[in-house]
Amino acid sequence: MNCVTLIMVTASFLSWTAAIFHHSKKGKEKALQYLVEPPVYAEVTSRRGENVTLPCVLRIKPSHYRVKWTKVDPLHRGVENVVLITNGHADKHYGPLGPRARLRRAHALDISLLLSGLQLEDDGQYRCEVINGIEDESVDITLRIDGVVFPYQSSSGRYKLSYIEAKEACREQDGTLATYKQLYRAWTEGLDWCNAGWLNDGTVHYPILDPRPACGGDLPPGIRSYGPKDRTQEHYDAFCFTSTTEGVVFYVPGPLDFSEAVHACREKGANLARVGQLYSSWMFLGLDRCDGGWLQDGSVRFPIRTPREHCGGIPEPGVHSFGFPSKSLRLYGAYCYR
Ligand SMILES: *[C@@H]1O[C@H](CO)[C@@H](O)[C@H](O)[C@H]1NC(C)=O
Repeated sequence: MNCVTLIMVTASFLSWTAAIFHHSKKGKEKALQYLVEPPVYAEVTSRRGENVTLPCVLRIKPSHYRVKWTKVDPLHRGVENVVLITNGHADKHYGPLGPRARLRRAHALDISLLLSGLQLEDDGQYRCEVINGIEDESVDITLRIDGVVFPYQSSSGRYKLSYIEAKEACREQDGTLATYKQLYRAWTEGLDWCNAGWLNDGTVHYPILDPRPACGGDLPPGIRSYGPKDRTQEHYDAFCFTSTTEGVVFYVPGPLDFSEAVHACREKGANLARVGQLYSSWMFLGLDRCDGGWLQDGSVRFPIRTPREHCGGIPEPGVHSFGFPSKSLRLYGAYCYR
């Protein structure tokens, strides 16, 4: 046995013994009898539109059992979002994920879940549960949708969106309200934004990398929190999340006013891009242009990957905004999505 094999055997022995305990639903440590414990913090990463496998494997097969896959909803604890239940013979599908879910069954002990056509909302924690009537067991696995977080402000100005309006604004821009985890990750990747925005759990935050007096004062870099806010009475901006799209964004040179921009895209069999689509093309397809262009919401933006001179100073990488200029202004091109 060479050294590498030895290390692998030792590691797998360790994970076998370390894996024996699993936090059960009742909160007490419990030995797993039927399920193989996944690695600590098991996470599967994928993108919108793709197919993914959430692994779950039986150690031994109980004589009678059912397998239940659920999505754990941290916002509504106690609510069980069942995706699929099988008794080994027949599978039943439930909820919005049901039609896109099936068991992989790659071998006799495989109860992994296949999810097809991933959507932004599929991001989150999943639970694979074996029910045999005596001792139920479960393991959790996280599905992370790889994407990009973008701040969004109403065309009527800063801090104009209630929670519901923020949710709707993100949807209109081809996104969802970001989770705290998504905002946190975006902050680690460089997002610094001095306006507070809604997250999907009804809290309000903003991410700061470069502390300055106007943005939380002398606090160290981090996510500034306003905590949970009144969803109907209070108004902020939004942090939206999006991932890959089926189409691509392309630029049509101006100068065009807003309605000319609409037509310019139509002539090319496209529509003015939504903000999320521009961010997606910037993030995943490397879209980089030093030209302001109209978007569907009436804002004007430009995507920069590689900072350079002669582009309004040397802008940081990112999607930059000129806000919402008058729609009759004939100064910009158009970003179209097809
Ligand atoms: C994803 O799964 C669906 C349904 O099972 C299948 O039709 C499609 O070809 C798969 N796509 C990829 C990229 O594997």
